[in-house]
Amino acid sequence: SGATASPLDVQTKTYPELVVGFAQIGAESEWRTANTRSIQDTANQLGVELDLSDAQQQQENQIKAIRSFIAQGVDVIGVSPVVETGWDEVFAEVKQAGIPLILLDRNADVPDDLYSVRIGSDFVEEGRRACGEMARLLDGQGSIVILEGTQGSAPMIGRGTGFQECLREYPGLQVLDSQSGDFIRARGKEEMAALLRTHGRSIDGVFAQNDDMALGAIEAIEEYGLQPGIDIKIVSIDAVRAAFEAMIAGKLNATIECNPLLGPLFFETALHLANDTPVEKWIKPIEGVYRQDTAAQELPRRKY
Ligand code: AHR
Repeated sequence: SGATASPLDVQTKTYPELVVGFAQIGAESEWRTANTRSIQDTANQLGVELDLSDAQQQQENQIKAIRSFIAQGVDVIGVSPVVETGWDEVFAEVKQAGIPLILLDRNADVPDDLYSVRIGSDFVEEGRRACGEMARLLDGQGSIVILEGTQGSAPMIGRGTGFQECLREYPGLQVLDSQSGDFIRARGKEEMAALLRTHGRSIDGVFAQNDDMALGAIEAIEEYGLQPGIDIKIVSIDAVRAAFEAMIAGKLNATIECNPLLGPLFFETALHLANDTPVEKWIKPIEGVYRQDTAAQELPRRKY
């Protein structure tokens, strides 16, 4: 359909000529819901035609959606790959069709020439930051359990790598056990309950790879008869509103920000690509670390 968007002005102009297909993962977490909303709201604001598909956590559904975007001849395709591997073939088809491809949020383990740009967080750095917070909270001494996200996903791999890398600086900290809660609150609760049955009071800290699983873990710890945030320190990732509420209640100790509000960057980049304007290969949002002491002050400012 050929978008004409020069000069680019995403504040006041609309771009009804641009057609974008986006293959979303699903709705596993509050983060994901905020991410989807940001994409939809920005498309509406810019007047862009958006074909949004929900893969219900299945890679094969994302692959099908991408193939249907190619068949429709959209101007730009976006995808948040549910897992890192298994994309080479379908990404090569996108390239063959001459359609720019944006990896939004999660990355894929593919050669650089198979996509145009990735917009998303540095997951390894998030893991390092989470470990730094845990080391501070436990004074460098203690036993940690990890609630991991979706196995094989970029944030699960990156956050795990960053956490382990930083742990080497703290010989007094050890990881007792890791379980996957799939980035889902109910699964975080289930796995935390099982970890407590196995390790009981020897758990000093929980690193939950997202806030939803931390919120589930908080319930499991309370049901076990311990005080989350006090008896067991908890650090998680995302910085959704519910995490701030849990910090204000003293139940979550810290959250590392992972910004889901990627809609504006996504469409701005899509417009650049549709107009053959060069963009950086990896666009990273700016993100912070939040603790209990500033949670009440920050909460009213949170947008997700
Ligand atoms: O890919 C980003 C991760 O996916 C978020 O941390 C998590 O909450 C989401 O489901």
